[in-house]
Amino acid sequence: MGIVTTAELMAAATAARCGVLAFNVITLEHAEAIVEGAQRSAKPVILQLSQNAVAFHGGRIGPISAAAHTLARSAAVDVALHLDHVQDMGLLRQARDAGFSSAMFDAGALPYEENVVATRAAAEWAHGAGLMLEAELGYVGGKPDAPASAHAKGVRTDPAEATEFVERTGVDALAVAVGSSHAMTSQSAVLDHELIATLAEAVPVPLVLHGSSGVPDDQLRRAVRAGMVKVNVGTALNVAFTRAIRDALVDDMLVDPRTYLSPARELMAGKVQLLLAAASPTIRDRSPEPA
Ligand code: G3H
Ligand code: ZN
Repeated sequence: MGIVTTAELMAAATAARCGVLAFNVITLEHAEAIVEGAQRSAKPVILQLSQNAVAFHGGRIGPISAAAHTLARSAAVDVALHLDHVQDMGLLRQARDAGFSSAMFDAGALPYEENVVATRAAAEWAHGAGLMLEAELGYVGGKPDAPASAHAKGVRTDPAEATEFVERTGVDALAVAVGSSHAMTSQSAVLDHELIATLAEAVPVPLVLHGSSGVPDDQLRRAVRAGMVKVNVGTALNVAFTRAIRDALVDDMLVDPRTYLSPARELMAGKVQLLLAAASPTIRDRSPEPA
């Protein structure tokens, strides 16, 4: 119990044929809620910090990472730290010293050959530093800084290209585009389960589902059954956080942040429990899905 590596959690999830949830940390309250929800569920969890969240903290990775690391070390469940959606190599180079055991290098919006070159360089550096590296092939839409050329809708990861991409880049995990999209505030995405199963069969490293907030619970379960290993969730916690604060602030007299951050943290912890129940205990069975 306490801090472990992302590689350990993903290997354990693969062996146990279940998913491991990775939740985005923005504030200290997010990290506290994620660890609390995981402890109540008695399940391992990944705390992930995105490059955008680092930017929110003034570009300083240290303070929020130190808080997450401290929570992870003292947790009653296994917790790993992952640096997410990194585009800046300068930030990637800070990952290990900030306590992360893995990072996702995000070149998914680049044309294929440019993605290969950039990702291979990132993987070489990460492996030299002892970090696990995740990359993305096939653009998962919905990111705030998406380039105009990136197709948010309809794009899918091609299985043959994905296999070649992993061989050429040496990455340890692959984020794939299978129908989810980032920042959805309702669970209305429709995943391509046939494609997930084909990718899981073809790709020699664990698959990662991004934009999982928009995926209905039953589809999350099916995705894990079909071979998804790491399931990334961000927006669903922010929806809970903001709802609680909005409700509390109806009272104009409230000024103490604890009066609205406490329910916000509690609602996020509850959401973590629900999502852990939906996605992480599923025994993966590669037999065909019932119709
Ligand atoms: O990498 C982070 C996840 O893909 C979060 O996506 O905010 O749509 O759940 P989400
Ligand atoms: Zn993502």
